Amino acid sequence: MHAVGIVAAAGSGLRLGAELPKALVPLGGRPLVCWAVQSLRDGGVDEVVVAVPGPQQAAFAAVLPDDVQVVVGGDTRTASVRAALAAAREHADAVLVHDAARPLTPPEVVARVLAALVAGAAAVVPVLPVVDTTVLVDAEGVVTADVPRAPLRRVQTPQGFDRATLVAAYGRAHGAATEFTDDASVVRAAGIPVHTVAGDERAAKITVAHDLALAELQVAR
Ligand code: C5P
Repeated sequence: MHAVGIVAAAGSGLRLGAELPKALVPLGGRPLVCWAVQSLRDGGVDEVVVAVPGPQQAAFAAVLPDDVQVVVGGDTRTASVRAALAAAREHADAVLVHDAARPLTPPEVVARVLAALVAGAAAVVPVLPVVDTTVLVDAEGVVTADVPRAPLRRVQTPQGFDRATLVAAYGRAHGAATEFTDDASVVRAAGIPVHTVAGDERAAKITVAHDLALAELQVAR
């Protein structure tokens, strides 16, 4: 199987409060995007395409390895992945879409996703259980219902797909009013079942400054 990795790195990182786009923020002295590319490669991905913010295209190209393809992303994550998917070579049979914001994803998670694709899944996501009590609230923040947590899962990346399935699903989703927060939801909207493999707490997403501080502690050990 030939697998292309797509790294969505075109976000601004406003919630992190950094001057730089989030994917260029250093962790252990290396930009987040470089960690994400490395874990895809270490997990078995053959080539990588990274979607970046247009104004910083040169800055990304300067820090990424020469054999990584850099494309300009879009206003939403979906638009960024769509741009990278268009640039991914057609000879690939599998696509793994990963967030630059998950720099410490262990290569074993990537390998589990690839193995599920090899075993025949058309779409697969790494997931973790929900450990907190989970509730619904109304507009005033008052609890209106308990949500049974046993069947709930938190979805991580990289998310793996049969390439043709993902391309077709993105084609169908074009112009849809729905805002998709990940690629599995694009594929599910096209009626394709999405399988799961075990995720990993270390693949946590860096969103706010506290997340980055925790990641720094992990790489300093
Ligand atoms: O904003 P959020 O943390 O959910 O973004 C998840 C990933 O999607 C990040 O790695 C971010 O760089 C990427 N993204 C993107 N294009 C956008 C918005 C977010 O590639 N327009």
